[in-house]
Amino acid sequence: MTAARASTIADFLSAEDLAALDRPVGQALGLPGRVFGAEFYALEQRDYFPRIWCPVGFASDIPEPGDAHPVEIAGWPILFVRGADRKIRAFLNVCRHRAMRVVTEPCKGRAHFACGWHSWTYDLEGKLIATPKIGGERAHRDPAFDARDTDLKPVHVAQWLDMLFVNIDGKAPPFEEHIAPLDRLLEPYYDLSPLVRAESWSTVYEGNWKVAVETVLDEYHIPFAHPQLIQGVRQNNHTNACVDGLYVMTSNARIYGDTRESGKAMGYHHNFPRILKADAPEPRSHFVTILPVGAIQTRPNHALMGLFLPDGPDRTNITFVHYYPGDSAHDPALAQAREESVVSWKEVFAQDVPFAIYVHKNHQIRDAAGIGTRMTPVWENGVACFYRSLVNTMRAA
Ligand code: FES
Ligand SMILES: [Fe+2]
Repeated sequence: MTAARASTIADFLSAEDLAALDRPVGQALGLPGRVFGAEFYALEQRDYFPRIWCPVGFASDIPEPGDAHPVEIAGWPILFVRGADRKIRAFLNVCRHRAMRVVTEPCKGRAHFACGWHSWTYDLEGKLIATPKIGGERAHRDPAFDARDTDLKPVHVAQWLDMLFVNIDGKAPPFEEHIAPLDRLLEPYYDLSPLVRAESWSTVYEGNWKVAVETVLDEYHIPFAHPQLIQGVRQNNHTNACVDGLYVMTSNARIYGDTRESGKAMGYHHNFPRILKADAPEPRSHFVTILPVGAIQTRPNHALMGLFLPDGPDRTNITFVHYYPGDSAHDPALAQAREESVVSWKEVFAQDVPFAIYVHKNHQIRDAAGIGTRMTPVWENGVACFYRSLVNTMRAA
């Protein structure tokens, strides 16, 4: 009997599909609906997510030594730990005994972690340090047991601002190279160094992770899906750019009635210190999708960072964290202003829920009807960029 051949991206995308995606955006077709299904998701788990620098967590979730935070990206269980040396480490959260998740809930101030199943115990650096009863009722060692290669598997980890990235296969280019274009994008506009974590919130989209990411890739849908965001705007200077296939930036300088950048929506009017540089060029607000599943939204006086983490082929866990300069992140006098910002962002994401649900459902059937998707050259370069980047990475696997 011969083993079944493992599938490849060529089983899902023909040369014609790839050529159609690569045409100039106004003539291009999006990817077929089958790439939003379970079989392609399995391929992404193997050939995409492990191979890239993927944003998956926040350093502020583990502020002190001994803090640990488990996350999951497309089925890959990652454990972030802050060591006694304050260094952040990442491991595959897979016990080296019989594969239980070692840490299943966030925890604080620990010296070690005992797996819940048989209590194999690992230190903050992932080393297996105890195996209770391994040799019998009173024997915590067993000379007949080969204890080599039983430490937690480390994963390459890197931090940018508060965002934690992992590269699971350890073969991606150096992180400094990966992140440099993002720094270059934002540096002319903002001083992000004073930002401090404030509120955070989470939601779930019942749709494939790529559809969830699509809901933030364009400004095109804003006036139709989120009309409150452009209330009072008399001019919306929009630009978008795709940078190195890694970052998609949409940006705007919304001019509100008679007061520039003083719109009521999204906290422009609140009295937080500015992070926008005095000599910043236009535009004055940016939404950068940190491909594939991260985002940073910068405004003149605050920022948000978000994650769109795939949880199966048809579900995406979304988390956003709000940041403000220095003490304003926790100043009680600004608590109401911060709360208003959270409420307004939750409203925006709730408005995108039906798109995630119904676009996902339609992707499951549209191939049978021969219906492709289209993109507009003015607004949706970023959508094309996202899919080209995904395909190029997976084809190189
Ligand atoms: S699976 Fe972890 S100790 Fe057995
Ligand atoms: Fe949206």
